[in-house]
Amino acid sequence: MIPCSDPRAQYLSHKEEIRSAMDKVLEGGRYVLGQEVAAFETEFAAYIGVRHAVGVANGTDALHLALTALGVGPGDEVITVSHTAVATAAAVRLTGAVPVFADIERDFFTLDPVRVEAAITPRTKAIIAVHLYGQSADLDALAKLARSRGLKLIEDCAQCHGARLGERRLGSIGDIGCFSFYPTKNLGAIGDGGMAVTDDPELAGRLRLHREYGWSERYVSAVDGWNSRLDEIQAAVLRIKLKSLDRDNARRAHLAGIYTEGLQASGLVLPVTRPGATHVYHLYVIRTAHRDAMQKFLTGRGVNTLIHYPMPIHMQPAYRAKASPQRLPQTETAALEVLSLPMYPELEEKSAREVIAAVKEFLATGPGQGALHD
Ligand SMILES: Cc1ncc(COP(=O)(O)O)c(C=O)c1O
Repeated sequence: MIPCSDPRAQYLSHKEEIRSAMDKVLEGGRYVLGQEVAAFETEFAAYIGVRHAVGVANGTDALHLALTALGVGPGDEVITVSHTAVATAAAVRLTGAVPVFADIERDFFTLDPVRVEAAITPRTKAIIAVHLYGQSADLDALAKLARSRGLKLIEDCAQCHGARLGERRLGSIGDIGCFSFYPTKNLGAIGDGGMAVTDDPELAGRLRLHREYGWSERYVSAVDGWNSRLDEIQAAVLRIKLKSLDRDNARRAHLAGIYTEGLQASGLVLPVTRPGATHVYHLYVIRTAHRDAMQKFLTGRGVNTLIHYPMPIHMQPAYRAKASPQRLPQTETAALEVLSLPMYPELEEKSAREVIAAVKEFLATGPGQGALHD
């Protein structure tokens, strides 16, 4: 079976270095928020091109902490996409604010600035732009809109470590950039981890307070806070993998090139890169009206695929009841058509070609192309 992602393969490719770094942490005796976390924060901030990085427990917490640090709370609305990991909206809910969903751009699967503008109300406090699948949302337009309407802009960078818009790395453009280090991400830990980055020293200070009980000093809580600390073992592993992130991203882009070349005459809708942006291919997502049949066929050929995401957030039970009734046509159509092909740096070219052959076989013998959903 060719897996859709393979975090173990990544561990094996750094095995000796990871084991010795873990040993060092174990022998050192400090397991949470120590030297490794401090060094990783410095290195990651430099990599992204910001002054501050705050290591946290996971990507959901990075978003929750960012919203809290920006003053978002009960009574506020936060505009974001419904076509994303539920974590994006869950983080808004955790603050007591209401997630308001705007539709996506068809080609890029990211927040449509025109729809955002239409969704702004006097209660709107912030926008969360999700850089889905490995490339930028229309951040130039969203940043301009946020500035002109006095809104905060958070970048959800869980799927775009290292990607750029123009010269700048994603995460460095909004007020706060939020990263997840879930094991399958482009920069993945061997457990959970996350990071919030910002250029603003005051926001960085607030993020640090909120991530540890609101402590201004040990045992003295100056503000509300909870526990969302990054641990030393994850930080040590992430420091090692950060060194090869650009190389890993280049390998993903190379594999994406193989897919695109192999499938370009197939009639399938293939990923499009936003002009002026780089794509780091966290996922290689194709579109077909026969998605479910294709997925089944590929599974039978030993190719594991996934759907990101099968049910838009505004249609999920926990959200449906509280969301105002709405239709998000691009989002709802995407959920029926998207399919993620295997993509990870250790994927062999031979395997990528097997995936292409299996997709083509489906198209030749299966139900054919047909029109995409309206
Ligand atoms: C777009 C997006 N946002 C947020 C998250 C949440 O990250 P985590 O799983 O580390 O909490 C994820 C990962 O699942 C994600 O893909």
